[in-house]
Amino acid sequence: MPPITPPSMVDIVDVAPRDGFQSIHDPLPTADKQRCIQALIDASVTRLEIGSFVSPKALPQMADTGDLVAAFANRPGIRFAALVPNLKGAELALEHGVRDVVFVVSVSEAHNQNNVRRSVDESLKELAAIAKRLQEAGNSYLRLDLGTSFDCSFDGRVDWQQVDRVMNTALNHCRGLDLEVALCDTTGRATPYQVADHFTRLRERHDYERLKWAFHGHDTYGMGIANALFAIHHGASAIDGSCAGLGGCPFAPGATGNTATEDLIYALNGGGVHTGIDLPRLLTAADRIAALPGGKTASHLRHVPRERVS
Ligand code: COA
Ligand code: ZN
Repeated sequence: MPPITPPSMVDIVDVAPRDGFQSIHDPLPTADKQRCIQALIDASVTRLEIGSFVSPKALPQMADTGDLVAAFANRPGIRFAALVPNLKGAELALEHGVRDVVFVVSVSEAHNQNNVRRSVDESLKELAAIAKRLQEAGNSYLRLDLGTSFDCSFDGRVDWQQVDRVMNTALNHCRGLDLEVALCDTTGRATPYQVADHFTRLRERHDYERLKWAFHGHDTYGMGIANALFAIHHGASAIDGSCAGLGGCPFAPGATGNTATEDLIYALNGGGVHTGIDLPRLLTAADRIAALPGGKTASHLRHVPRERVS
């Protein structure tokens, strides 16, 4: 077998401000969120999911997303993404000048119902409307988060054929857009070989120039880093992480936070993979995030002596 060659670079998307902050029961003060986001920017994180435009009744923790977007306007070189569950959310994102719209639909019926109170088909119709709206607004990019691509808290294992069925319809609706499709391990129960298999099979079936792949993993079973690496070696060019490992999905019982971004950077630095992120500064950001009241964090690197980190 030939040795595994690391890619020269990978995009890291820090989702702590969305997936992480939404998991803290009492909404955080906007100023505290701002300080954490600034700390991530100071660590040279250039892609951030800053929040979501969702029903404030469903997730009051995200109600200040518009204010955060406004607070970080005009930062050249930094991509701020916002998750949306429906057309209304996409309209709000556009109104606030967000270019990186992230539409979420779960592959499993039960999780989609629990998360956005819609069937998968209904969500896909919403996606068609969003794709049209984005193009009208002159925005040619969309990120598609396929939740529960590997496992669902309610329905159990999800096979690649189920993901494929959702992708077929979704990609049909998104013709004409530059797409980044993220296979999301919402529950953190995926295993590395399952990740490799899904990416391999799905990339065989869907391969065109304007389609990029991403992986969004939770670390519930401690597989986060291995899953991310397998995803990278099977075609993902972007990986989501959450600084300090902050998180846990309120709509996926039992799931813990995303894989800690600092642990991902350590793994990637070890292979000479360029991410542009400054690890010591990222650890400073992680300390700030870990100090937030009510957050559940999980990170290996934050707990080893700093002189041994690099
Ligand atoms: N942004 C802000 N408000 C929204 C909204 C959005 N994207 N979508 C709907 N709303 C508001 C409606 O205006 C309505 O407000 P009102 O009661 O004051 O009139 C209310 O929310 C309910 O709207 P409705 O369309 O009936 O939605 P719903 O109650 O069926 O809930 C969702 C569906 C998708 C809006 C809701 O479940 C949601 O926001 N979920 C978020 C899930 C999430 O973020 N999960 C974690 C990430 S994977
Ligand atoms: Zn998640």
